[in-house]
Amino acid sequence: MTATIYNKPGYLAWLNYRFIEDKASRTSCARYGSAVTMLGDSPLMESAAEELRLGLGQLLGKEPALGQCSAVGESPCGILIGTQAAMIEGGLEELPASLGEEGYSLREADGVILVIGGGERGVLYGAFHLLRLLQTGAELQGLELVEQPSNELRMINHWDNMDGSVERGYAGRSLFFDQHEFRVDSRRLKDYARLLASIGINAATINNVNVHRVETELIRERFLPEVANIAAQFRDYGIQLYLSVNYAAPVELGELTTADPLDESVQAWWSKQCESVYRHIPDFGGFVVKADSEFRPGPFTYGRDHADGANMLADAIAPYGGQVIWRCFVYNCLQDWRDRSTDRARAAYDHFMPLDGRFRDNVLLQIKNGPMDFQVREPVSPLFGGLERTQHLLELQIAQEYTGQQRHLFYLVPQWKRILDFDTHARGEGSTVAESASGRLFGQRLGGIAAVTNVGNDANWTGHGLAQANLYGYGRLTWNPQTTAEQIASDWIRMTFGADAETERVISDMLMASPDIYESYTAPLGVGWMVNPNHHYGPNVDGYEYDKWGTYHFADRDGIGVDRTTATGTGYSGQYHKPWSDIYESVEQCPDELLLFFHHVPYTHVLHSGKTVIQHIYDTHFDGAERAAGLLAQWDALEGRIEPGLHAGIRERLAHQAKHACEWRDQINTYFLRKSGIADERGRTIY
Ligand code: GCU
Repeated sequence: MTATIYNKPGYLAWLNYRFIEDKASRTSCARYGSAVTMLGDSPLMESAAEELRLGLGQLLGKEPALGQCSAVGESPCGILIGTQAAMIEGGLEELPASLGEEGYSLREADGVILVIGGGERGVLYGAFHLLRLLQTGAELQGLELVEQPSNELRMINHWDNMDGSVERGYAGRSLFFDQHEFRVDSRRLKDYARLLASIGINAATINNVNVHRVETELIRERFLPEVANIAAQFRDYGIQLYLSVNYAAPVELGELTTADPLDESVQAWWSKQCESVYRHIPDFGGFVVKADSEFRPGPFTYGRDHADGANMLADAIAPYGGQVIWRCFVYNCLQDWRDRSTDRARAAYDHFMPLDGRFRDNVLLQIKNGPMDFQVREPVSPLFGGLERTQHLLELQIAQEYTGQQRHLFYLVPQWKRILDFDTHARGEGSTVAESASGRLFGQRLGGIAAVTNVGNDANWTGHGLAQANLYGYGRLTWNPQTTAEQIASDWIRMTFGADAETERVISDMLMASPDIYESYTAPLGVGWMVNPNHHYGPNVDGYEYDKWGTYHFADRDGIGVDRTTATGTGYSGQYHKPWSDIYESVEQCPDELLLFFHHVPYTHVLHSGKTVIQHIYDTHFDGAERAAGLLAQWDALEGRIEPGLHAGIRERLAHQAKHACEWRDQINTYFLRKSGIADERGRTIY
């Protein structure tokens, strides 16, 4: 890696502290930019102070003086940062109500801005919030705000392998590993930690949930000192390190002949591993486990269930305060496509609902947002309304596996908001996924959100320059699911590209339109999966149709879709509370965008939109491809307003998208014209 990476387009991402050109705003900010004073001291507080020094220095063109003091009145100007406890001790009288460890308050009075953290992490988050206000041109005089995170656990999952590859990675190679060794650029790691902390991320795994032979050793002396180095860098930014572990580690490492969770030698083996992990990393977060899923080992081998497996690990790690995060992505991946009674969509609920209430209180089940696998459109997993007595996390995918692989533009925040806002009706109206995942809905101790990250060692972190908005948006939404997708886009654009109004208008339009555009030219009406097998990129209508993965569309000459009703289908719709079970069950009531997920209908079926299914397919595909070309034209019009290197990199991807959208359009339309024999009403070219 060359030293110049730190100067490449996009490297600074949204922590690009651009000089404030507007003199009036600069002068008004300069009032506070002369000094940053810490009340008290700690590594986290130092990270906060250093960030303010860097940010203010660049925004205002003059570095503030850094100092320390012991009383609030000793800092007559600038920015004073400290925890609530330190502020009380320092003589501050009017305090905000309890902030919690990670909450903070920002307030301005008489030319001084106070950044008051509930705890030290709160101070750090408060400092980043203040910098955001400066970057986005907010008024600081009279500032008074209080923030607390909606989710306690706000996690990033890396799917990095120690050979340096990244499973479903679209932005280069691993930031942590290469050739089965740790290869960490510590400056870059620190910048990564800064990016994550700035959006409130407080937990991360660094290795893939598919834990292969070498990674099994991450919990061993061979690698622990290096894992601990990463944990230390993360710690300074409030990020707790977790590891994905191999359920069969004692067997894989040749030390035991069984991984049976009820076997005492297995229990003792894991206790010993936990002891050594915590010797190296005293604040280690815990284990993430993919078990009995897609050929990964698990308790099923020994006739045990997921609760037995998770509880065994939970007991081993409990003495140290660690968590076990156990994934619910469990289904039969060796299905016979001829068998129409087995339904992959049912699997997570069928496996885990019977175990509700059996898990230890340091276990969290991690549930993918939908019942299948991060498709463009899926219903929300019924487990969010189901698991009343088990702590759980929502799992999202920032990596664009099925949403254009960071070559197509797809702003994921609107999709995530739809998921978080979905009302499960588990406890009557208002029982949203956001409330369920946070733990509030069912009064659980701990909850939150985890997401597969989209970063790699590409200079701009995410491959597609505009895909940074997804990482940024994930953090902001996880902190506060009420924030609108437009607000997040606006902040991200200003922080990344500066304050030019036209730039903001155009990029915001592009981001907000992008999910609908992509959905239009890919698989229609919620049916999903029409992609090339394995790598999942590009159209292939029958790519998964006669395969073992349980992902079918059942298109024939008359119709398409999967009957998941309780009356005549797989019964999946019955996993929801009312009214959803009724709505999804009914072909009349089912929302158009999920129609083919729940029903098999003729091509001539008329949608709520008034169009037939076949005409909808043709129209959306023509329209989607046209709008993809429009994205490129919009971007071209910004030339000259955006740094050339950044502009060119994004342009290249948008040009590819425009072309690739035509390929999607033509393959999908042609397939359905040939299958159905029904012509396009508008007589456009289909092959
Ligand atoms: C998807 C993805 C896999 C991944 C799996 C998981 O199926 O394609 O690469 O391992 O999800 O979430 O475990």
